[in-house]
Amino acid sequence: MREWEELKKQCLACRSCGLCETRTNVVFGVGAPDAEVLLIGEAPGANEDEQGEPFVGRAGKLLDDMLAMIGLTRQKIYITNSVKCRPPQNRDPLNTEKDACRGYLRRQVELMHPKIIVCLGRISAAEIIKEDFKITKEHGQFFERGGIQMMALYHPAALLRDPHKKPETFEDLKKLQSKIREICDHTLIEYE
Ligand code: URA
Repeated sequence: MREWEELKKQCLACRSCGLCETRTNVVFGVGAPDAEVLLIGEAPGANEDEQGEPFVGRAGKLLDDMLAMIGLTRQKIYITNSVKCRPPQNRDPLNTEKDACRGYLRRQVELMHPKIIVCLGRISAAEIIKEDFKITKEHGQFFERGGIQMMALYHPAALLRDPHKKPETFEDLKKLQSKIREICDHTLIEYE
């Protein structure tokens, strides 16, 4: 726990890339650092930058609804982004920015050692699962990496843009719920 707080402190003061000049807040993450399930988005948007918390805008509301469908809450899991500061105008993070930020996420994963990682969207899946991840084909599939089960869901913002993807995402959420039932000990509310 001390190491987690140390990492957070270091991350909140980070000046390793240009995003530190334009950010309002660093968005380190939210939830339980000892959670078994880790969700990883892309990068903070305007609302997240203002509030210092991931997924607090419209996409975040949808994410909360998706989690609720399978008995999850923000308190039972951990949510972060692969890049911790907002890219101006919500452009995709640059490689230099991803490189500068990678160590924080790596260390978060090391300290948490989650059983399941869920990537939200292609950019996060390309960063975490494999570089050439095809979100339209490979969403909902589990990949094992270093003893961690990893999968990707469509990004909630993509679901807001294209609601036709929602039924497939519901199927993916059910797969995630089954995996949690199979390998996690203290994540689903029904198990309390
Ligand atoms: N989109 C993301 O990928 N992360 C956030 O925190 C908010 C929107």
